[in-house]
Amino acid sequence: MTQTQANPPSRRAIVLYGRASFDHGQALKALATALAGRHTARGETVTVATAYADLSGPALPGVLADLERDGVTEALVIPAMVPADPSLSEWLPGALSHWAATSGTAMAVRLAPPVESALDLPAALDRIAGGLSDSIAKDVRETEPSLGKPGWSAIPEHGRQVFVCVGARCLHRGAEPLYQHLRTVMKGHRALNAGPRRVMCARTSCLYPCNRGPLLVVQPDAVWYGDLTPAKIDRIVTGLLLSDTPETADILHSNRPVGQAGDAPMG
Ligand code: FES
Repeated sequence: MTQTQANPPSRRAIVLYGRASFDHGQALKALATALAGRHTARGETVTVATAYADLSGPALPGVLADLERDGVTEALVIPAMVPADPSLSEWLPGALSHWAATSGTAMAVRLAPPVESALDLPAALDRIAGGLSDSIAKDVRETEPSLGKPGWSAIPEHGRQVFVCVGARCLHRGAEPLYQHLRTVMKGHRALNAGPRRVMCARTSCLYPCNRGPLLVVQPDAVWYGDLTPAKIDRIVTGLLLSDTPETADILHSNRPVGQAGDAPMG
């Protein structure tokens, strides 16, 4: 990789693309810091950023756009999930190409093979299973037996549940800011936070009709909304969630005749 080019100088960035699950992305951030440190030690100026395929992001398109705004001219995306997500190779190359074609970016974007392909996982497993196991593995009986906090047995009382897909492809299409928009709008309506209209909002992994994403489904109404925008979310809140009168033109799919999707929520 070149470090500089004549007029204008190139600025390189590496984006580690991983999952935020479980440790909220801390492990990936630590890897990014370590990688940046190695480049610095070699006297190379490279920005190392992180992007996520799940949960709260930030998603890859937003990270790439931010890097370009910061003056980056060449970005290398490295899928850094271990184990690698086999579906990634089926959609990420095309999705990045789509982003490059539609965003108007002038930045060079390259996609590396998954980092897993460069690792010797059997050797790593062998090291752990071998002589090191006594020093790093803890006897399970040293931990108090428990299946979780006592409060985790209670079923929450919600009239409806809204499931917002933040699978990798919906996240790529901007699902996370839309989810945050939904939460913000809902907070402004008391009826949605207490009583029979109380709504539980949850982010989910892939719900399958990815090409219609970003999308959400409202249960128990079984009403699907796709190609979400902030304005569409506003209409879902005021129409279906607050007054049982959904805007039928917004509905992507419903398992019952449109117009009856808003039966009175359960108490
Ligand atoms: S990623 Fe959202 S439906 Fe597949």
